[in-house]
Amino acid sequence: MIELRDVPIPALDADQVLVRIEAVGVCGSDTHFYHEGHIGDLVVEGPIILGHESAGVIVAVGSAVSAARIGERVSIEPQRPCRRCEHCKTGDYNLCVAMEFYGAYPIDGVFSEYAVIQDDFAFAVPDSLSADEAALIEPVSVAVHACRRAGVTASSRVFITGAGPIGLLTAQVALAFGASEVVVSDPVENRRRFAQTLGDIATVDPVETDFGSLELHFDAYIDASGNGRAIRQAIPTLRRGGRIVLVGMGNDDLELPVSVIQNRELELTGTYRYANTWPTAIELVARGAVRVAPLVTGHVGLDQVEAGLLMNRSDPDAIKTVVVPGRPGAAALPRGER
Ligand SMILES: NC(=O)c1ccc[n+]([C@@H]2O[C@H](COP(=O)([O-])OP(=O)(O)OC[C@H]3O[C@@H](n4cnc5c(N)ncnc54)[C@H](O)[C@@H]3O)[C@@H](O)[C@H]2O)c1
Ligand SMILES: [Zn+2]
Ligand SMILES: [Zn+2]
Repeated sequence: MIELRDVPIPALDADQVLVRIEAVGVCGSDTHFYHEGHIGDLVVEGPIILGHESAGVIVAVGSAVSAARIGERVSIEPQRPCRRCEHCKTGDYNLCVAMEFYGAYPIDGVFSEYAVIQDDFAFAVPDSLSADEAALIEPVSVAVHACRRAGVTASSRVFITGAGPIGLLTAQVALAFGASEVVVSDPVENRRRFAQTLGDIATVDPVETDFGSLELHFDAYIDASGNGRAIRQAIPTLRRGGRIVLVGMGNDDLELPVSVIQNRELELTGTYRYANTWPTAIELVARGAVRVAPLVTGHVGLDQVEAGLLMNRSDPDAIKTVVVPGRPGAAALPRGER
């Protein structure tokens, strides 16, 4: 059940900023949390504000933050690492043992008018970026992290399964990293056609394609579908020594072609969100190397978050819905108390 409630604006710690939220992308994981109540072992056990792909304007700063930042347009990296554990200290802070991630129970997210974030996770964006684009730096970051983990570089040949927002952004980031060939597989024709409009991206239909013809072809394979069959089919398309990166979630037990992984010494890893990606992601979007605006297929107000959460299940053409908290209409709705 979703309710619109008035809640107090969170108090600012010394190192935090208060952001008036202008746009929040709806992510598949928000839909999973709402629909299924969990993603893998992340379980929702009580009331929570979902949402983690956000951008807005700094309206107040904590005592340790320069007041010059008030008025700055920012994209929010929605996580709060402890900064003290060994992973934080070595820079892999996405692996922090005490991470607080926005919109993952019990940490409230950003389907709200205001949010606080530590000041170094509020990244200034150029005026050329719209609020939608600034919010979608978050899924671009997922793609940047995936391409880094996959070792995508100049003249890499990259295979991606899944042409949802994550696959579409990963394909573009791979090209921006210098990939010479990017092929995306998706059973949905609309999604394949859409992928082709975003750049020099080839597509295949996993149902029709003879995967034997792609055997030993790619340097890197990134799954953005979470589909076990897709992964099983795609692995033999890798050359010897290639890399497999599993980004897609939801399929905990997989059958893998173990002898192929052994004989070719394939490296297999997963990704857990991102670390140190915002500056790169902002730069890629700002110079047009990664286009996020075409992915936005709808806007809703805070009072329509439920429809927004279900949009990507109810509308086959929906790719990314953006919640605009300040959208007129939302304030007119009855509000409860938290
Ligand atoms: N690892 C992380 O940190 C991280 C972060 C964000 C999202 N994710 C995960 O990434 C995945 C993609 O996210 P999204 O928002 O793009 O999801 P999405 O559901 O919009 O896209 C998945 C796509 O995979 C396609 N697909 C289904 N079966 C397929 C097959 N056999 N072969 C090829 N494609 C197939 C679907 O048609 C769909 O277009 C999700 O599982 C999501 O949970 C992981
Ligand atoms: Zn997300
Ligand atoms: Zn830590």
